[in-house]
Amino acid sequence: MRALDRDFTEETATDIVLGRNEACSLPRLTQIMAVLVPHLHAVVRELDLTSAEWMAAIAFLTATGQISSDRRQEFILLSDTLGVSMLVDAINNRKLDDVTPSTVLGPFHVDGAPEMDMGGTISLDGRGEPLLVEGRVLDERGVPIEGAVLDIWQTSEDGFYDTQDPSQPDMNLRGVFRTGADGHFWFRTIVPASYPIPNDGPVGKMLAALGRHPMRPAHIHFIVSAQGYDALTTHVFLAGDPYLSSDAVFGVKEALIRDVLTSTDAERAAARGMQAPFKYLDTDIRLQHEAATLSQGPQE
Ligand code: BEZ
Ligand code: FE
Repeated sequence: MRALDRDFTEETATDIVLGRNEACSLPRLTQIMAVLVPHLHAVVRELDLTSAEWMAAIAFLTATGQISSDRRQEFILLSDTLGVSMLVDAINNRKLDDVTPSTVLGPFHVDGAPEMDMGGTISLDGRGEPLLVEGRVLDERGVPIEGAVLDIWQTSEDGFYDTQDPSQPDMNLRGVFRTGADGHFWFRTIVPASYPIPNDGPVGKMLAALGRHPMRPAHIHFIVSAQGYDALTTHVFLAGDPYLSSDAVFGVKEALIRDVLTSTDAERAAARGMQAPFKYLDTDIRLQHEAATLSQGPQE
């Protein structure tokens, strides 16, 4: 018997690798590799990739791993900036039309943010322009949801999360709120700023080489969960931000943009612990019943 059935050549490469993988007994892995290997080989063939270019790609991935730690996840940043995170999010969160869309989680969520009474302020150092955020958590038909939990986090007025900035108190600009029977929520914070994603590593270099900026438009993060509903990871973006149409991680959706307005309503100010005139942002959040999940993908 011959030692080799076929030489490994440009023509035979893909079939030989796929053949070698045939012993795999894990159906999903088999399916993934049957798609991944031909696509990977197609990239190499189509680009006539040089050995130096492949080594540069390996050096880039190595650097991406080396800068990652339990405080920094450069591979997620790579996925975010290549639009993969938002694509996976879109595929996994197909929603009914009237439901609030999801967007990326990002690397700055922290478990264990303090649970606060409704109306509490998440600004522990009081720095920045005061902002009232108010709305209701509703279902897809507009019925208020009682006991919905809102986990909220955002940057300071300088565009830093507390975990990036030793000058901020621990858990600054983070809080957890729980709706009552009317689904209503409100909390006090400060106007967040647009900010660059971490860009001192290989992903930052990649963006610079591509002529892309690293900025995200100003936003407030929400994870909203309630029993019987799909949990929602989303943001509210501030209208008028110059980076809304060029978010470095492609997270912006039209339905998530809200105006920050100024109110002179002294009664509302008094009821909400604000001083008139004050800035406010109104936003309802609509969750989808677990059973209401859309199962089919995009139509051909
Ligand atoms: C964020 O919004 O916190 C974020 C999302 C993706 C990458 C970097 C930051
Ligand atoms: Fe963010």
